Amino acid sequence: MHITIDISHALSFLHEGALETIRPRVEAAWETLVSGSGAGNDFLGWVKLPSQTDPALIARIREHAYRIQQIAEVFIVIGIGGSYLGSRAVIEALSSSFPEMIRSPESPVILFAGENLSAEYHADLLNVMDQYSCAVAVISKSGTTTEPAVAFRLIKQKLENKYGKEGACERIIAITDASRGALKTIADKEGYASYIIPDNVGGRYSVLTPVGLLPIAVAGLDIGMLVEGAAEMEKIACSAPAFSSNPATLYAAIRNLLYEQGKTTEIMVTYQPHLVMLTEWWKQLYGESEGKEGKGIFPAGVTFTSDLHSMGQFIQEGNRNLFESVLSVNRPNQELMIPNDPDNTDGLNYLAGKSLSDVNHKAEEGTRMAHVEGGVPNICIAIPSLNASYLGQLLYFYEFACGVSGYTLGVNPFDQPGVEAYKRNMFRLLGKPGF
Ligand code: PA5
Repeated sequence: MHITIDISHALSFLHEGALETIRPRVEAAWETLVSGSGAGNDFLGWVKLPSQTDPALIARIREHAYRIQQIAEVFIVIGIGGSYLGSRAVIEALSSSFPEMIRSPESPVILFAGENLSAEYHADLLNVMDQYSCAVAVISKSGTTTEPAVAFRLIKQKLENKYGKEGACERIIAITDASRGALKTIADKEGYASYIIPDNVGGRYSVLTPVGLLPIAVAGLDIGMLVEGAAEMEKIACSAPAFSSNPATLYAAIRNLLYEQGKTTEIMVTYQPHLVMLTEWWKQLYGESEGKEGKGIFPAGVTFTSDLHSMGQFIQEGNRNLFESVLSVNRPNQELMIPNDPDNTDGLNYLAGKSLSDVNHKAEEGTRMAHVEGGVPNICIAIPSLNASYLGQLLYFYEFACGVSGYTLGVNPFDQPGVEAYKRNMFRLLGKPGF
């Protein structure tokens, strides 16, 4: 079983034969991506990464993760953007909804740092470090990004105060470029265990490199299955562009068609709170890849049914520049039956004997019908259940579709020149030499 995509409730908003009109452009974009002949082609290392992942790397990461699990109650992942969103998305998707309360005896609690500059947040984290045994992965491809560098300076000092320089060294892992950047220099100088981020894999496409795999393994999740699942989708996505067999090209096609009809915002919808970070990963992937040269679909995200009581009004009746792409999970990993109550004071006995996931699915169906009637096209991407293998498929599906979609849109999906603008101002305001 694989990911399925249903575009029937989006096609109904387009003229007959619309899919045929975009087919040549999407097929050309697919060819450009697979042949590596387009803009940004020095960042295509992720395309064949799942099938070419060295089993020795998986084994090394697993062994390293096991050692961390023995010495740390808390594992801190320092990174920003593509250097943390993927691992966080996978860890939250596959872990307990309450990981800090219901702790796995085998794995540390995973916390994140350096993805913001909040003093409150980092001071709280340093307090946590006083109370629990810790280990750290510091992740930065460039090795020079300010947010993780500042967080690492604080956390490194805390670790050294707590464990001594040598003890701290055993608890720090650096994941960075093979040869460049301040983090690489520090890692070499201090003798940290380290992993390389391949040159040809950009941050937001790096979840299946050690950037994502190490933290995911420390969280006790099956990175072998994750990579295998991605490899299955790689095979499907890379073998042919045909819409009938390639869900990624179909997704790229339909979202570009909707965009050309003025649907400039795509809302990723999930019905599972532990997929919030997957939505955040998807937002970064599509936002940074497509939002440039005055073009791009604005990626937004909601979690239903919660957000039906906040954003639902806007989606139903607000500005009609929206479409939704629902990530639907067919089967839950855990089920709850709604009990009968003889008093029935709450009037809910009509639900007695139904499963909570049935109720959630009916909410999904009812919402789709309402939003489609309200003028919001709907794409449904479904996975059979949430496990490492399907999540691997899904990650690769979204990455591949993003590459095809970006080329179809006519942009380079592998650069992010606009991210530099805020940095220049911030450095100038902070008095960084040279700014
Ligand atoms: O996708 C990207 O390239 C970015 O989001 C980066 O991941 C992010 O800016 C962090 O960069 P770095 O890993 O160099 O610290």
